[in-house]
Amino acid sequence: MNKDLLSIEDLTREDIEHILDRAESFAEVSGRAIKKVPTLRGRTVINLFYEASTRTSSSFELAAKRLSADLVSIKAAGSAADKGESLKDTVQTLSAYDPAAIVIRSPHVGAAALVARWSAAAVVNAGDGKHEHPTQALLDLYAVRRRVGSLEGLKIWIVGDVLHSRVARSNILAFRRMGCEVTVCGPPTLIPRDVESLGCTVRYSLEGSSRADVIYALRMQSERMEGSFVPSLREYAARFQIDGRRLGPHQILMHPGPVNRGVELAAEVIDSPQALIVAQVEAGVVVRMAVLYVLLAGGGPSLAAAGEAGGAMARPAESEPQPA
Ligand code: CP
Repeated sequence: MNKDLLSIEDLTREDIEHILDRAESFAEVSGRAIKKVPTLRGRTVINLFYEASTRTSSSFELAAKRLSADLVSIKAAGSAADKGESLKDTVQTLSAYDPAAIVIRSPHVGAAALVARWSAAAVVNAGDGKHEHPTQALLDLYAVRRRVGSLEGLKIWIVGDVLHSRVARSNILAFRRMGCEVTVCGPPTLIPRDVESLGCTVRYSLEGSSRADVIYALRMQSERMEGSFVPSLREYAARFQIDGRRLGPHQILMHPGPVNRGVELAAEVIDSPQALIVAQVEAGVVVRMAVLYVLLAGGGPSLAAAGEAGGAMARPAESEPQPA
């Protein structure tokens, strides 16, 4: 049993399907005039963001509010972290409020796992350094499933700065778990040496990418780069930028955001009908509602280690979400 969501590796295929199905029911709620359900009324969710975020922080806030939780949102800037308070002391301080869940983003690999050890609350990893971003991967699965109906057998190409990308790692694991074929593609300097061990194929050029069902472009993460990994952004774009020539009419285009326009994506594809980028953002709210719901109100979390017999996430004790 696991009380937290720290990694896609914590989830079986059945767990993922359960979260995606639950998100579908919240999408129905999101279509109503009043978008709230009372599921987490009286419970506290703390968002602790030690690194910049627009999409993840806002969608976790909306998710908690739409589940009627009491929400505390803390950003590193302006908090006691500015005065040198350690993460452990911050978590112990916030634990005085008896939170049901702590959502944590940190520039440090393993930060969410540490918080999970220090706190009795359910901990959700909202991105830890270049390690993992599991809820991004879940919302990506959800967005693709909504567009095409089934994930089984889809060919996914993940293109760009794989080396510094927690999104890439979580998405390789997630798409593989759902029966997709995953290829990662980029310059050799931006591909981690052991990435094949995650079950993907490696390509160092876009040749063959026309066979992909989904092209998932990654942001060049200059904030995580010490030194130069490509000769120039212009040269990178010439070889790996997804533009109108490189995106087929039946291919889906994804990107986790924020986009470096003119680097990994050309303007003409960002706003094309193939782009799922806005749908990914929209999916963020309902998928994060589903994650909080399953962890906090789903009849007891059972995010079992992948491969364990009977590891399916427990079905919620409650029936479909009702309006607040
Ligand atoms: N995709 C993603 O994590 O975006 P933010 O950094 O804006 O949260």
